[in-house]
Amino acid sequence: MTKTELAQAFFRTFGPGKEPRCFFAGGRVNLIGEYVDFNGGHVLPCALTMGTWGLLRRRSDDRLRFYSLNFPQLGVLEGTLSNIRFQERNQWTNYVLGMLFALEERGIALGSGFELLVYGNIPNGSGLSSSASLEVVTGAALRACYGLDVTDMELALLGQRTENGFIGLNSGIMDQFSIALGKENAAVFLDTGTLSYEYVPVELGDKVILIMNTCKRRTLADSKYNERRSECESALKALQKVLPVKDLASVDLRTFEANKHLIENEIDRARAEHVVYECARTVEACKKLRAGDLISFGRLMDASHDSLRDLFAVSCRELDTLVAEARKCPGVLGARMTGAGFGGCAVAIVQKNAVDEVMERVGAAYEAAIGYPCAFYVASIGGGPKEL
Ligand code: GLA
Repeated sequence: MTKTELAQAFFRTFGPGKEPRCFFAGGRVNLIGEYVDFNGGHVLPCALTMGTWGLLRRRSDDRLRFYSLNFPQLGVLEGTLSNIRFQERNQWTNYVLGMLFALEERGIALGSGFELLVYGNIPNGSGLSSSASLEVVTGAALRACYGLDVTDMELALLGQRTENGFIGLNSGIMDQFSIALGKENAAVFLDTGTLSYEYVPVELGDKVILIMNTCKRRTLADSKYNERRSECESALKALQKVLPVKDLASVDLRTFEANKHLIENEIDRARAEHVVYECARTVEACKKLRAGDLISFGRLMDASHDSLRDLFAVSCRELDTLVAEARKCPGVLGARMTGAGFGGCAVAIVQKNAVDEVMERVGAAYEAAIGYPCAFYVASIGGGPKEL
């Protein structure tokens, strides 16, 4: 959709007047480093050129008016600045309200309301962070339109605070960070323990990043997500009885093997094992990416998936089918689930000249096994939020 079309939709929805300002923020795909961002580990995500557009116009009163072109059946949703709280019936606007809540917590008040129209082309619930994209585009629009003194990193933290303090999902920082600080054609190698980061060029030559969508709506994801987080916390507590470590990412492989018996609960032990090994894999994978060794990178992706499936238990039949079928195809260097799992997407590194055949073979096998089709996108890596 073009900026002009979006502006027309804005005027149709909210009436004539001043031009709204138009902003964009991407989604994200994580190449490796899954479920380590609340354990102090490294992650390696990329921002996507798929994302969310937000058009914002300030009002002079304290009213808030929202419309999403993705949910026209909901009509215009309304609120006021003086009543910012989570409510089911606020639907998608809870992510916008959450940003206002997070700003308020930091002592930043807007003083007047606004109209916001959004449109996104990330499939919802696909594990490509449509919600973080909405949070970041909202933050970027508010920052520009109200002249707020907020850095990109703070936008990411406000987004995470929205999830943790308003929505109730105890997520890490990876999604919002990679979207708010994304860079074209680069992955963000982020240390979630310190928030220091580096950009790693994604130069794939004759290969591409292929995203494979299970098209399965995630339902259990939120509750299981918080459960995984507390399992990691219990495992850490057990290790801390003996080891002076601040998080699971600080435990190296040898120390873990020598001390894992301290985690008596078998499930917690398996979760910690995933985290400790995934942290090491991600550091290793980043080295391989820098060295242009995509074969080794692909193998680490495979190992990551197997660990998420067997030790961390966040995969599902749909994701496992996509990954297993992709791995059978010539030209696939590695494949794994990406994001929170339980549905959503998998990601693979594929030879360009094999992509069509991979989509055909995986598509057919998936539909035969699961009963409905999956979808594919060749990823293109975008930058941080911007005004259009
Ligand atoms: C979701 C969360 C992230 C991260 C991933 C799993 O996307 O929002 O913080 O934990 O799951 O790696």
